[in-house]
Amino acid sequence: MHSQSVNKEGAVAKPVLSPARFLKPLVFIVALLPAVFAVYGVANSQYVDPVESLLKITGEWGLRFLLITLCVTPVQIIFKWVGVAKLRRMLGLFAFFYATMHLAIWVVLDQGLDLQEAVNAIVEKKFITLGITVWVGLLVLAVTSNRWSVRKLGRKWKSVHNSVYVLTVLAVVHFVWQVKASELLEPTAYLGALAVLLVWRFMRMVKR
Ligand code: HEM
Repeated sequence: MHSQSVNKEGAVAKPVLSPARFLKPLVFIVALLPAVFAVYGVANSQYVDPVESLLKITGEWGLRFLLITLCVTPVQIIFKWVGVAKLRRMLGLFAFFYATMHLAIWVVLDQGLDLQEAVNAIVEKKFITLGITVWVGLLVLAVTSNRWSVRKLGRKWKSVHNSVYVLTVLAVVHFVWQVKASELLEPTAYLGALAVLLVWRFMRMVKR
């Protein structure tokens, strides 16, 4: 029989070369690739309008990572893959990372660091107001995603982090609000994916 090593606490130690050990660093590298390709694209003048392209790339990856993070629990339950939960925090932080890059590109490159102009846009343009609202929400989730906050907030922690569903809905609305009628296909696809995730969650709640 295959023998497993047991540490002092009696827990079964993971084999040194277990695939689980490589999963987190691998996902980290893969999640960084969109940012690397975007920088490469700018450096090689691949975009006609680099600021617009960077806004699109970072905005979409922010939204994609939000949706990917919401897939963790369904994947865990449907495929009985407990270990996938270990990726949840990192995936959520990547959503925040891309959303922050999106905001930084808008403030620095699009608004030319004119803070008065940026504040005016936040107040006057509804889709920007919504974008900022989503970003502030993601900031709260990122700051409270550590073990210390889980302990401090107790039962409240789950309610705070369940707001990720509302933030994802608002991020899709932010997307829909600024695209032309002829470009609605893509945001509709994200909306469809989100609807499936919400229905799945609702059905589980009813079952329980
Ligand atoms: C933080 C405040 C935010 C500001 C100021 C902002 C601003 C913008 C702007 C100006 C655009 C239009 C880009 C274009 O020219 O086509 C845009 C698009 C977009 N934003 Fe935001 N946004 C914010 C937050 C967010 C957040 C938090 C998300 C999602 C996590 C997000 C996701 C998107 C998406 C998906 C698009 C559409 C990209 C496309 O056209 O393909 N934004 N945003």
